[in-house]
Amino acid sequence: MKLSIQLGNLVLENPIIIASGVFSPDSASYFPIEAIGAIITKTVTPRPREGNPPPRLLETAAGLINSIGLQNVGIERFIEEELPRYMELGVPIIVSISGETEADFPLMAERLRGKGIAGIELNLSCPNVQRGGMHFGRDAETVFRIVREVKDASSLWVMPKLTPQARDIVETALAGEEGGADAISLVNTFLAMAIDIRARSSRLGTLMGGLSGPAIKPIALRMVYEVARAVRIPVVGCGGIMNAEDALEFLIAGASAVEIGTACLINPSIPAEILDGIRKFMEEEGIDDIRELIGSLKIKPLDI
Ligand SMILES: Cc1cc2nc3c(=O)[nH]c(=O)nc-3n(C[C@H](O)[C@H](O)[C@H](O)COP(=O)(O)O)c2cc1C
Repeated sequence: MKLSIQLGNLVLENPIIIASGVFSPDSASYFPIEAIGAIITKTVTPRPREGNPPPRLLETAAGLINSIGLQNVGIERFIEEELPRYMELGVPIIVSISGETEADFPLMAERLRGKGIAGIELNLSCPNVQRGGMHFGRDAETVFRIVREVKDASSLWVMPKLTPQARDIVETALAGEEGGADAISLVNTFLAMAIDIRARSSRLGTLMGGLSGPAIKPIALRMVYEVARAVRIPVVGCGGIMNAEDALEFLIAGASAVEIGTACLINPSIPAEILDGIRKFMEEEGIDDIRELIGSLKIKPLDI
C-alpha cells in the first residue's frame, strides 16, 4: 500500500502532520513517531515572547479556545537549544515562524538556512504592528509580499498557513501561490470569545482567543475544498480532525496531507490511530495508492 505523498519537492512517508503548537520534543516519547509524516514546530518569533496572561485554554461545547499568545524562546535560542532536539526525532521538521513586521519573516527564513529542516510554515494569524494590529493573513497583498520575500531570502520550502479570518480565503491562497509558495496550509484557529456572565468579563486572560477542534471542522473542510480547486500547488488541510474519517474527508476534498492539532492534546497516539484507520479504509475500498483519494470528491451538477 502506498501512503507517501508529495508537497511540491517535499516528499512525506504519509500524509499525517502534527500541527503547530501541540507538540514539544519533551513530549516526543508519548507520540508514535513512526506514524508521523512531518512535525510542525510551535511558532517561533524573532524575539522571546512570554505569551498571554492565564487562563489560556478554555473548553467549549465542541472545541477549545486558546490564547497562548505565541509563547516561545525566540529564534536564536530556538536554533541553539530546541531545533537540535526536534532534528533528533528523525522525522521531517517544518519550522513555524511569525513576526511583528513583514520584514521579520525573511530575516527568520535566512537564519533557518542550512539547518537541515524540511521547510517553513508561515504563521500569518498574528498582529502586524505596522498595520494597527491587523493580522498579516487577512490581506491577500500582504500574504503575496511575505511569501515572495521569504522565497527570495532563502531557498527553503515554504508553506503559508492561512487564517480563516482572511477577507477572501481563495484570493489569499492564490496570492500565496503567486508569491512562490510550495504548498498552502489552512486553517488556523477562528477568532472566538467566551464570557463569564457573573463577572461580566472574558473567561480567557485576553478578550479573544482562537477556536479549534470539532466545532470548526465543517467550515475548515469547505475552505480547503474551495482553495484546493483554485490553486495548482498542494494544499494541507487542518481544522478539527479528530479521527480517520475526518482526515479522509479532507483528502477527498483536495488536501494532499492533513495537520492534526487539538486531537493530539487529548490523545497523543491519535496520529497512529488515524493512519491505521486510513490504511483500513484503503484496504476496504481496494485503493493501493493514497493519491487516488486526493481530490476524489464527486460533484453533482446541482451541488455547486
Ligand atoms: C494549544 C494550541 C496552540 C496552538 N499554537 C499554534 C502556533 O503556535 N502556531 C500556529 O500556527 N498554530 C497554532 N495553533 C493552531 C493549530 O496549529 C491548528 O491550526 C488549529 O488548532 C486548528 O486545528 P485543530 O482543530 O486540529 O486543532 C494552536 C492550537 C492550539 C489548540
